[in-house]
Amino acid sequence: MAIRIFSGVQPTGNLHLGNYLGAIRNFVRLQQDGNECLYCMVDMHAITQWQDPKELTEATRMVAAGFIAAGIDPKRSIIFNQSRVAAHAELAWIFNCVARLGWLNRMTQFKEKAGKQRENASVGLYDYPVLMAADILVYKATHVPVGEDQKQHLELTRDIAQKFNNDFGVDFFPITEPIIQGEATRVMSLRDGTKKMSKSDPSEFSRINLTDGPDQIADKIRRAKTDPLPLPETLTDLEARPEADNLVGIYAALSDQTREQVLTEYSGKLFSEFKGALTDLAVGRLGPIGSEMQRLVAEPAYIDAALENGAERAAAMAAPIIREAKRIVGFLGA
Ligand code: AMP
Ligand code: TRP
Repeated sequence: MAIRIFSGVQPTGNLHLGNYLGAIRNFVRLQQDGNECLYCMVDMHAITQWQDPKELTEATRMVAAGFIAAGIDPKRSIIFNQSRVAAHAELAWIFNCVARLGWLNRMTQFKEKAGKQRENASVGLYDYPVLMAADILVYKATHVPVGEDQKQHLELTRDIAQKFNNDFGVDFFPITEPIIQGEATRVMSLRDGTKKMSKSDPSEFSRINLTDGPDQIADKIRRAKTDPLPLPETLTDLEARPEADNLVGIYAALSDQTREQVLTEYSGKLFSEFKGALTDLAVGRLGPIGSEMQRLVAEPAYIDAALENGAERAAAMAAPIIREAKRIVGFLGA
């Protein structure tokens, strides 16, 4: 069976190191391996929590710039924004009638995002994972590269595909495989090793943005929370220290090594020294991406044309699949 890759990133706030190491870097690798890839700015997911319209437009361009600057070639891969391809919303409605309330009630991301304001959360936020299943399956994508936090949503995608196939007695939608790969599938906040690095954290010092300059990167790493002990020798000792584990994981991912290899080099050394090395590495790897992003967003015409072209190609790919899904359901005229 042919491999087809799909993944999405929400155009909200700034792209950060977690997005890069957990997701975007793998997008680039999968493209370079010669796979057919679709990478999507999921603007319809973004509005499940209120977004300023102007900022949403700008963030969509910024994420696209991040993809391209990181190495995604809009000719080889399809990059586009979700709302342009109506088939995502159409399939999401069919899946709304396949997915069960009980399944959605188990989604931990909804619980985290809605928090105590559950009654006041949008219906869209609750339904978010169903739209995500539609994003993937409207292209019959077989593999989905994501960070660790999306694992549960991808299990739901498999359940929806399976139930659709069973309910209608067909073998139509593939059972998608997640690709959760690397030493940094869950990058933690630089201020708190028990919290995920996230676009929505109020503290700028919790994350390194892809557009941060060398001084900002250095400053954030210098202020990153650590403990006073030197770096340990073993992984078990490292894992007991969340902030230390996070920084070593970031170093490993950025230098294409394992945590063990990093410890072999740095065990017994102090964090003051390690942080200097990490800063040099991060500036060297992220600096060129950040400056290319700034250059690209300064001239949006190129990005806008790439996204328009991507949406046309995506829509053409989705068209026969949504038509067949409607036919399977029994919709007249499909
Ligand atoms: P989002 O910004 O929530 O749309 O996430 C886009 C992609 O980045 C998804 O594949 C996430 O799993 C991944 N991601 C987000 N935050 C992190 C993190 N802190 N560590 C690793 N991957 C992440
Ligand atoms: N929920 C994903 C996130 O926040 C974004 C997303 C939407 C996605 N649709 C997708 C990821 C389809 C992979 C495949 O990170």
